[in-house]
Amino acid sequence: MSTPVTVTVTGAAGQIGYALLFRIASGQLLGSDTPVKLNLLEIPQAVKAAEGTAMELSDGAFPLLAGVEIFDDATKAFDGVNVALLVGARPRTKGMERGDLLEANGGIFAPQGKAINAGAADDVKVLVVGNPANTNALIAQSAAPDVPAERFTAMTRLDHNRALAQLSQKLGVPVSEIKKLTIWGNHSATQYPDLFHAEVGGKIAAEQVEESWLKDTFIPTVAKRGAAIIEARGASSAASAASAAIDHVYTWVNGTAEGDWTSMAVPSDGSYGVAEGIISSFPVTTKGGKYEIVQGLEIDAFSREKIDASVAELVEEREAVKGLGLI
Ligand code: NAD
Ligand code: LMR
Repeated sequence: MSTPVTVTVTGAAGQIGYALLFRIASGQLLGSDTPVKLNLLEIPQAVKAAEGTAMELSDGAFPLLAGVEIFDDATKAFDGVNVALLVGARPRTKGMERGDLLEANGGIFAPQGKAINAGAADDVKVLVVGNPANTNALIAQSAAPDVPAERFTAMTRLDHNRALAQLSQKLGVPVSEIKKLTIWGNHSATQYPDLFHAEVGGKIAAEQVEESWLKDTFIPTVAKRGAAIIEARGASSAASAASAAIDHVYTWVNGTAEGDWTSMAVPSDGSYGVAEGIISSFPVTTKGGKYEIVQGLEIDAFSREKIDASVAELVEEREAVKGLGLI
């Protein structure tokens, strides 16, 4: 058995945390040969609840679980961390817009970025789930100048999975037959789920659906799914979000399949005219624990407009957090 990988989960006592931790302990985050040590970070008021979850993790008798520790101090929780899952944040509630969250959450991610900078392992990989995820990732990254910027990523895999599900239902094909789907931009209602490069049975997906369905049903359904879940459940998505976090890290560590790619929000290098430095979703391939933005895709006028709108929102969010002194 190899040395345990240290995985720190923030917001461990929250609803995503509850759905996530047991799957990490069972080996689904990193693979069935990799033991994990879990560091749970919570605010002091929620430490007791995290202790309860830790008791349940122990009762799961997971062969791969090498230990669980609970912290209310970020510096300690991120000491030696290999995989950091930044989930803890204030969830959006009914009627609240994402912009309102910037100020509320900004203060959480700078100290956590600093703690990662101070103590993380050299190979640290960071996934930000807590909303507004892309800009929270930017805040954490800015506070961690000694960690390579590309290690800070944000989650659009839930949007990617939602798009796979909608298309699979529309065409009556299993999700496994859909390849090269892309979410571009922000994890918000401006995101752009792109079917013009996606393939089903080797043919372009956009050509297999009506244009009106693509534009008036598919895109808004995927982009507003988070709000629809809040409306229906009275709370934001949790198990599907945890599942997507597992997928994001598993793919980052273990690689994308030949002839396919996934969606990850990563620091832009300017590819596809996306403003450099913002953390925006792209099509990426992964191999050997590293990801690369897929290059050379042709972007038509419709897609260009959609990508630009979401990028403009991210640039605005960056300006807002700059104004608040958070980056
Ligand atoms: P939740 O309220 O159930 O849990 C959040 C937890 O974070 C709480 O236990 C809280 O005590 C903790 N927390 C708050 N501040 C913290 C800090 N500074 N350090 C450590 N822990 C802290 O919320 P949830 O449903 O688990 O959602 C968590 C976040 O994930 C929200 O921001 C939500 O909007 C977001 N989310 C993102 C996606 C995505 O696709 N990117 C999907 C669903 C939800
Ligand atoms: C989701 O996509 O389900 C969440 O990001 C919604 C939210 O705002 O918490």
